[in-house]
Amino acid sequence: MNIEKIVTLAKKRGFIFKSSEIYGGVAGLYDYGPLGFLLKQKLVDYWRKFFLKDDNIFEIETCFIMPEKVFEASGHLKGFVDPITKCKKCKSVYRADNLIEEKLKIFVEGKKSEELTQIIKENKLKCPECGGELEEVKVFNLMFSTNIGPIEGNPGYLRPETAQGIFVNFKNVLNSLRAKLPFGIAQVNKSFRNEISPRQWLIRLREFTQAEIEFFVNPEERFEKWKIYENIKIRVLTREAQRKNKEVEEMTIKEALERGVIPIDYMAYFIAKEQIFYESLGIPKEAIRFRHILEEETPHYSKGNLDMEIKFDFGWKEVVGNAYRTDYDLKNHSIYSKEDLSYVYPDGKKIIPHVVEPSFGIERTIYAIMLYSFVEDKERGWDWFKFVPKISPINLGIFPLLKRDNLPEKAREIYENLKKDFDCIYEESDSIGKRYARADEIGVNFCITVDHQTLEDSTVTIRDRDTTKQTRVKISELKERLRAMLA
Ligand code: GLY
Repeated sequence: MNIEKIVTLAKKRGFIFKSSEIYGGVAGLYDYGPLGFLLKQKLVDYWRKFFLKDDNIFEIETCFIMPEKVFEASGHLKGFVDPITKCKKCKSVYRADNLIEEKLKIFVEGKKSEELTQIIKENKLKCPECGGELEEVKVFNLMFSTNIGPIEGNPGYLRPETAQGIFVNFKNVLNSLRAKLPFGIAQVNKSFRNEISPRQWLIRLREFTQAEIEFFVNPEERFEKWKIYENIKIRVLTREAQRKNKEVEEMTIKEALERGVIPIDYMAYFIAKEQIFYESLGIPKEAIRFRHILEEETPHYSKGNLDMEIKFDFGWKEVVGNAYRTDYDLKNHSIYSKEDLSYVYPDGKKIIPHVVEPSFGIERTIYAIMLYSFVEDKERGWDWFKFVPKISPINLGIFPLLKRDNLPEKAREIYENLKKDFDCIYEESDSIGKRYARADEIGVNFCITVDHQTLEDSTVTIRDRDTTKQTRVKISELKERLRAMLA
C-alpha cells in the first residue's frame, strides 16, 4: 500500500489537487480535478441508486450557513469541541487527547479538560516540536463561525454535518410530501470542521462531503425489511473485544441485532447494505469491519453507534457512522424553535419520530477506493487503478492504431457513436502502447482499437484493462458486448 505513489498519481492525472496550491495549499483542504470530479459524481450517483431508491427516502439540498440557534438546539455549540493545548514557548497547538494517546499509548476519549491537563502534568509531557512546557488544556469548538449580514451580533456557522439541514426541514418535507413513517430524508453535500490537525490526505479534512440519511421511524413499530439481509455476514469489533484487546468476530446481521450490537432493526437494514455496497466498490471483506463505539466515545446525540471502518495504509478508520439518534434532534429543535415537530397518525396519535442515521464520508470512501484499486505493476512497467466499472471515471478509450491510413477517421466515427451511451475518451497521439498505459493509469476499463483489419471486415479489438487480453468484435455488436462487460 504505497499511499505516496497514489497521491502523486492522483495529482498527476487530475483526480485530487491541494486546494490553493499555487499559494502553498492549506492543510485539510483539497480540490477535485476533472477525473476526481467524475469519480465522485459516479460514486454519489451509485450511492443514490443503492440507498435511496425504493426506500421512501427523499433527497434535499439545504444551506451551508445556519444561524446559531440551530447549533444551540443540536448541542454543537456546547459539545462539538476538541481539547487543545498550546506550547508556551513556540506556540504550537496540539489536540491534547491525540498527544496523550500517541505518547502514553492510553485511551483518553471522553475525558474532561482538567483530567487531560492532569495527565500531561503527571507524565511531564512536553511540546513535541521544541520541548517547551504545555499550557492547560482548553476546549476548541470545531465549527467555522461567521457573522450573517453587516450588523455584528448575528452569528452563523458553516454546518459541521448535513444532518442539521435535514432536521430543521423535517416539517416542511413531511407536509409537502405527506410522508408516512418510516421515511428518510437524505442530503449529499459539504460539511465543515475546523480540525486542529488535519492529516492523512483525504481523511481528516476541514471541508468534506457527507452523504447522510436521516431515517425517521416509530421505535415501537417493527421494520420487517431488514430480514432480507438477516444472513449477511459482517465482521464486528465488539465493545468487549476493544476492552480486552480481542479480535473481530464474524456474525450475521441477525446475530448482531439479537446481541444488541445493532441497537434497532432499522439500523440493521442499513448496516447490511453498507457491507454489500463497499464490497461492490472493490473493498475486500477483510478490510471492512463494524466497530461498536464505546459508551464514552458515543456522540452526545446517540444511543448507540456502530461505525463501519476500513483498513487504510495507516490503520483502521471510520468511513460510515451509524448512529441511533433517537428523538434527540427533533425534540430539541421543537423546544428551541417552538415549532411542533411531531408526526401525527391518522387517528390523531402524536409522536416525535426517532432517527437512525447512516452518515457516509465521501472523501474517505474515495481514499479507500483508490487504495484498494491501485495496482503497482512491475511487469507492465506502470501503475494503474482497477476501478470497478460503475464508478470508473472513464469506461472506454477509443484509439486508432496509427495516425494515418484513414484509421483516425474510422476511430472517430466509432467514438462519436459510443459516447452517446458510454463515458469515453478518444486519443490518437503517441504509440498505442503509451495510450494503453495512460488509459490504465486512470482506470479506463476497456480500450477499443481500430486497425487495418477494421477497414476490411468492420471489426475492432477490445483490450481488457485487467488482463491486457484483446478480443476481436464486430462493430455492429460492440455496444451490446460493452454493455454486458461493463455491467
Ligand atoms: N451526522 C453525523 C456526523 O456528521 O458525524
